Parts: sequence; structure tokens; C-alpha cells
Amino acid sequence: MAATVSDVGTHRDLLEGAMHSAEGRHDPYPFLADMLARDQSCVLDDGRSFVYGYRQCTAVLRSPDFLKHGEHASSVPSGITAQQAEMLRRERPDSPGMLSSIDDPAHSRLRRLVSLVLTPRRLEPYVSLISRTLDEVLAGLDPAEPIDLVSTVNSQIPSQVVGELIGLPLPDRAHFARLAGLQSLGRDPDASFADHLTAVRARREMYEYVEGLIDAERSGSADTPVGRLVRQQQDGEISRAELVSLVATVYSAGFGTTVRMLGNGMVALLRHPDQAAWLRQNPHLARQVTDELLRYDTPVMTVAYYAGDQAVLEDRPLEPSSLCTVVLGAANHDPRVFEDPDGLDVTRPRGDSPLSFGYGAHYCIGASLARLEGDVVHSEMVRRYPRMELAGEPVRQNTFRARAFSEIPVVLEPS
Ligand code: HEM
Repeated sequence: MAATVSDVGTHRDLLEGAMHSAEGRHDPYPFLADMLARDQSCVLDDGRSFVYGYRQCTAVLRSPDFLKHGEHASSVPSGITAQQAEMLRRERPDSPGMLSSIDDPAHSRLRRLVSLVLTPRRLEPYVSLISRTLDEVLAGLDPAEPIDLVSTVNSQIPSQVVGELIGLPLPDRAHFARLAGLQSLGRDPDASFADHLTAVRARREMYEYVEGLIDAERSGSADTPVGRLVRQQQDGEISRAELVSLVATVYSAGFGTTVRMLGNGMVALLRHPDQAAWLRQNPHLARQVTDELLRYDTPVMTVAYYAGDQAVLEDRPLEPSSLCTVVLGAANHDPRVFEDPDGLDVTRPRGDSPLSFGYGAHYCIGASLARLEGDVVHSEMVRRYPRMELAGEPVRQNTFRARAFSEIPVVLEPS
């Protein structure tokens, strides 16, 4: 029987409950609250550690003793045969590793290059792109009929925004968004071998496509973000394989996460009309609303690292190379840091920043862009459709790590 909050005692049971039970997948926060009431972290018998208290999460994320080891630890398949592992290895694109899964010195060098194309000044034109995309999407919808917010508004905005960022031709944006969705299948702890295979093949197709994009940029002279990175490659600052991986990573890291943020945010606003009304009256304060929505229902629940030789957790040495999972969604609900942590309060006093975009060396490089998308979409939707309501129960994606809705039925203007 699935664990419930009232009848579990140990950390392992609570973690199992939050991550794997039906109740936990639906609402992990009661399980996380129980864990937070006990302590800030735990080390299981098999050496794996979990960190959930805000202060401990920030301590781990800023420590040089927690590493990526060249692997996206959340996508390492478990319970597969040696033959299946070999098959995945063969299908994997030949790449130097994604920005999010490499360590220094390569990490700092590549991160510096990407941050140059994501500066606040470079992001200014995206505000009008987001508004224009929203206008176009909404113009094609009948406001009196039920629609699915995820497939209409929420997927379209980041598809156009990150598509524009990496210079994807318009007709290919929907296909690329689909590939990004398939690629993320392998990130779930319950992913089957078939899911991993689908994910790896999607990644390979994405990398091959990006190679073509880069070749096209090389022959053009337009001042695009990828064009700027291509010139850095020509100056010898980055290899071709690194460039391909970087561009693909920026897309896949920036698409699904933003779809999730918009879904979690819009459902929270629909379920808390008083908070939506506050945003309608204070659109200039949309940023603090976006940040609170990201805290309240965190789209990336966990990030994973490997313990280095000197890694300690609350003075306890960790087994070198053991997996350490940092539960950002729990840190964002730590009552030691956020008053009434399970409540949504868009007027919450500013204090410690939520960890929704991570912290430390791997802090999300697209956080400013994602927030812009959140600010425009949340404030515009509540302004244009003050009577918008749910037309059915939103469907939760059955995963823990990626907290999202797969379907949100709404009527924009109920009669
Ligand atoms: C609401 C939307 C988003 C959320 C919740 C989110 C969350 C995160 C988190 C938690 C990390 C830290 C990963 C770790 O510590 O292992 C991260 C890293 C990253 N994000 Fe985002 N992200 C979002 C949007 C974006 C966007 C729009 C882009 C690109 C345009 C982007 C690009 C990246 C990249 C490249 C990294 C890796 C950075 C590094 O390893 O140095 N993200 N993101």
C-alpha cells in the first residue's frame, strides 16, 4: 500500500511517499513538511543522501565538494541490463556533456560564453516577442469554449522564445518542442528502458539538427545569439562539439521547465482568486508574483550531484561518488525560512530567495528569461480574462522531479 503521511516513520518511507506514491505525486508537500519537521538532510543505508532544509541545500549547492562528474545524474538509468546500457551508450550522441552536467574548468569557460548572450540588455526584445506570441495564440482561441491551457498558451510561449533564442526556423519549432519533451522522459526516476531509449534518440536527433543550424549560422552574418557563439568557436574559445551541446542544452533546459512554471503558476492563480486579483491590480509587481508562484509549486523539484572525496553533509562524511539529491521544492517550503510555507502569498515579504532556479555554480542561466515569460503571461492572462475558470480537474504529470500539469482545462470567458 502506498505510504501516507500519518503511518510512515522513517526517512526512506517519507521519501518513497513523496517521490513514488500516488498521493506524493499529486501533492508531495505534506511528505516534505514531515521530513522538514525532523531535520534538514538524511543519508540512506545505501550511501545515497537527500538534502531538503533550505540552509543545508544552499550549503551543498555552494560547496566545491559536490560535483556533476559529466553526467546528468537524474537521467542515469537504474535496473537495466548490461546489454541495454550498451545500447543506450551506442545511441547517445557523441558529445562532451551538457553544461548542466560538467565541472570546472570546462564549466566556467562555457558558462561565461552563454551568459554573454543572455544579458538583461540582450533579453529586452523578448518582452515584445512574448506579448506578440500571446496575442497570436489567444486570437486563435474561442474564449467561450473549454481549451487546454498547456497545449495552447503554455507550450507556445517558450517554444517561440527559446526557438528564437537559438535561431530555430519557425516551421521547425513544434517538432523541436516535441523532441525536447521526449528527451525529458529519461529524467524521471521511474523511467523504463524504453523511455531512456526514446530520450536518447530524441537527443541524438536534436544534436544532429543543431549541427545544421550552426552550419547555417556560419555562412550567415546575422547578429544572433548562436551566430555570436559560432564566432567564438572560430576564435578557438569553444570546440564544435561543445557548441552543439551548448545550444541543444539551452533549448532543452529552457523549454519544458518554462511550460511547467506557467502551468503550475496559472493553476495556483485560478485556485487563489484573491491572489490573482492582487496581480490584476498590481501588474507592475508581476515579478514578485512570479517568484512566489515558482516557490509555491516548484517546477524542478530536485537537482542531483555526486559527492566529491571531501564532501560532508552536516559534518557527516559522504561516500565518495555517492549520489546527493537536493530537494529544491522542500527547501522552498522550509518553515525555518518561509512563514506559512504551504500558503500562497504574493505579498510575502522579501527575504531569502527561493531556490527554484538552483543556487551556486550551476544556478539557472536562463532565470531572467524564464521570469520575463512568467511576468508577462501571468499578468496578461489575469488582466484579459478576469473571469477565467477551470473547466475540469487539471491533470498532474505523474512524476516527482518534474512538477507539472499535462492538461489544464479552462474557459477564458465563461458565459
Ligand atoms: C521556470 C523555468 C526554469 C526553471 C524552473 C529552471 C530551473 C533550473 C535549475 C533548478 C537549474 C540548476 C540545475 C542544477 O543545479 O543542476 C537550472 C540550470 C540551467 N538552466 Fe534553467 N530553469 C528554467 C528556465 C531556463 C531557461 C529559459 C533557460 C535557457 C534559456 C535555462 C537554461 C539553463 C541552463 C543552461 C542551466 C545549466 C546551468 C549550469 O549548469 O551552469 N533554464 N535551471
